[in-house]
Amino acid sequence: MKIESRLAQIGSIQEPVTGAVSFPIYNATAFRHPRLGESTGFDYARSKSPTRKVLEEAAAQLESGDAGFACSSGMAALQTIFALFSQGDHLLVSLDLYGGTYRLLERIMSRFGVTASYVDTNDLDAMSTLYTPNTKAVLIETPTNPLMMITDIERVCAWAKSKGMLTIVDNTLLTPFFQRPIELGADIIIHSATKYLGGHNDVLAGLIVTKGKELSEQMAFLHNSIGAVLGAQDSWLLMRGMKTLALRMERHQENATRVASWLLEHELVEEVYYPALPHHPGHDVQNRQSSGNTGIFSFRLKDAGYIEPVLRHIKLIAFAESLGGVESLMTYPSVQTHADIPEEIRRQIGVDDKLLRFSVGIEHADDIIADLDQALAAAKRERQEA
Ligand SMILES: Cc1ncc(COP(=O)(O)O)c(C=O)c1O
Repeated sequence: MKIESRLAQIGSIQEPVTGAVSFPIYNATAFRHPRLGESTGFDYARSKSPTRKVLEEAAAQLESGDAGFACSSGMAALQTIFALFSQGDHLLVSLDLYGGTYRLLERIMSRFGVTASYVDTNDLDAMSTLYTPNTKAVLIETPTNPLMMITDIERVCAWAKSKGMLTIVDNTLLTPFFQRPIELGADIIIHSATKYLGGHNDVLAGLIVTKGKELSEQMAFLHNSIGAVLGAQDSWLLMRGMKTLALRMERHQENATRVASWLLEHELVEEVYYPALPHHPGHDVQNRQSSGNTGIFSFRLKDAGYIEPVLRHIKLIAFAESLGGVESLMTYPSVQTHADIPEEIRRQIGVDDKLLRFSVGIEHADDIIADLDQALAAAKRERQEA
């Protein structure tokens, strides 16, 4: 079955009693045992719960994995994954990545003796230099948030495998509709499902998908033991959002491509970072390993003085954190999503005070462009008058 059909059908054929097309929300946290030593398959909701199970099975299938785990947020999913590692273990991590992932590694995991080195994950020489016998995994974001750097997933997975390491891919920005890293050799997928999978800026959730029996069993143990699991209501809401993922991703891609191309020509814009644009350094790899492009990109204005008035004048586009919802959102990474990354690293990778991140929604592209046009014009006018 094609992915569009699998998405639309999530949870609609599993309910055997009533035939409900939308899978019910089971709020129960405890389940009766038929007799001693017997179980219906459900005992206690932290370990397994009916509504969450349907979501988890769908996630595993969509990502071509063996098991799925729904968590209370993307960060909860990352924390659960990091619990695979022990004191002394070391990770290689994408240089440009979500600030919260960096904060979790540097301010929390480091206290438990799990360390990370940040590296351009396309530079295998640099990765080999940083590799030690204690290096247990590579964590890739591709595209990265916010600079949209692309990593050749197959190449990194093959390299990691040759050294006995796991490859973890944060697939939040492309979703399994456009990219399935397990098919390219990855072992673990993590999603902030709060973003495109949920898609409506109304559910906070994370997903993990694992490949392989042993890893799936280990993750099931950690998921239950840590307990940062997704509740039944949110599991249902996430499934509801995922049913329209294909349509939304196609429109996000179409709008983002039009808006990014328009911005590239604008007199106040210095650069646009979007892999769909032919001049983007990751364009060819992205086209090879993914079937489409995300709806988010970053762009750099020619002067930091334009940032404040642009954010003040946008109307249709909301000045708000997060990404991947139907509504267009713009954020200022250096003071918001990436504030926890030290300034020297931010500058090295280009997350500076002239960079804006834009999550292009599914409104009409003409309206999005008109809003940007008036905000940029107002910023120019105010700068001239100042
Ligand atoms: C790429 C990426 N991974 C993980 C996270 C964390 O997810 P959550 O906010 O759902 O905890 C985010 C959040 O912005 C993200 O952008």
